[in-house]
Amino acid sequence: MIIAVDGPSASGKGSVSRRIAAQLGLPYLDTGLLYRAVARDMLDQGLPLDDEDAAVRAAKSLDLDGLDDPRLRERRMGEAASRVAASPAVREALLELQRDFAHRPGGAVLDGRDIGTVVCPGADVKLYITASAEERAHRRYLELRDRGEHVDEDEIYQDILKRDHRDQERSAAPLRKADDAHLLDTTNLDIEQAFKAALGLINAARAPR
Ligand code: DC
Repeated sequence: MIIAVDGPSASGKGSVSRRIAAQLGLPYLDTGLLYRAVARDMLDQGLPLDDEDAAVRAAKSLDLDGLDDPRLRERRMGEAASRVAASPAVREALLELQRDFAHRPGGAVLDGRDIGTVVCPGADVKLYITASAEERAHRRYLELRDRGEHVDEDEIYQDILKRDHRDQERSAAPLRKADDAHLLDTTNLDIEQAFKAALGLINAARAPR
């Protein structure tokens, strides 16, 4: 069973997806980490983020074992990831790896921006998880602060608006809800409530009609 979860940054999709995967005993892939890892490799080599050939090379040599690097979660990596992710060639270079993961025996949970629309259009269940930009900025602020980054909440809010705009307006696989995705707004939900709501939608979608 393939479960595709999409939505903007800090919508709660990562926490919900991780719990869904644990609950259902499925492997989980946070595809944002792939774009973040490409960005990290570019920055580490001192390469400009718009060097598309180098970004494609970084994408093709990526392996899933290096995705637990805590640096990938830094604020600047999110911003840089959103920039490399605008390249159709980089997206194409990461497609096979994501599809291979999705088609593991037994299935998988993947989250990102284009899982239900491009990576796994035939997914068994699709969720689109969102929340207001203010609430998402607040969550991201708390998360970065807890990790020891010195951040200003209003700057994070501006980051979120900029990233939403870039992810939604790019021509290659823009962030959008698939027509057959279930919408889950987590603005007024805590993580436990969001998880339960998501599980309810998944169970309802899987129930024989
Ligand atoms: O989910 P995240 O914040 O870790 O993602 C970082 C950036 O990567 C995001 O701004 C856009 C890009 N991304 C993407 O384009 N497609 C995906 N499936 C996942 C992430």
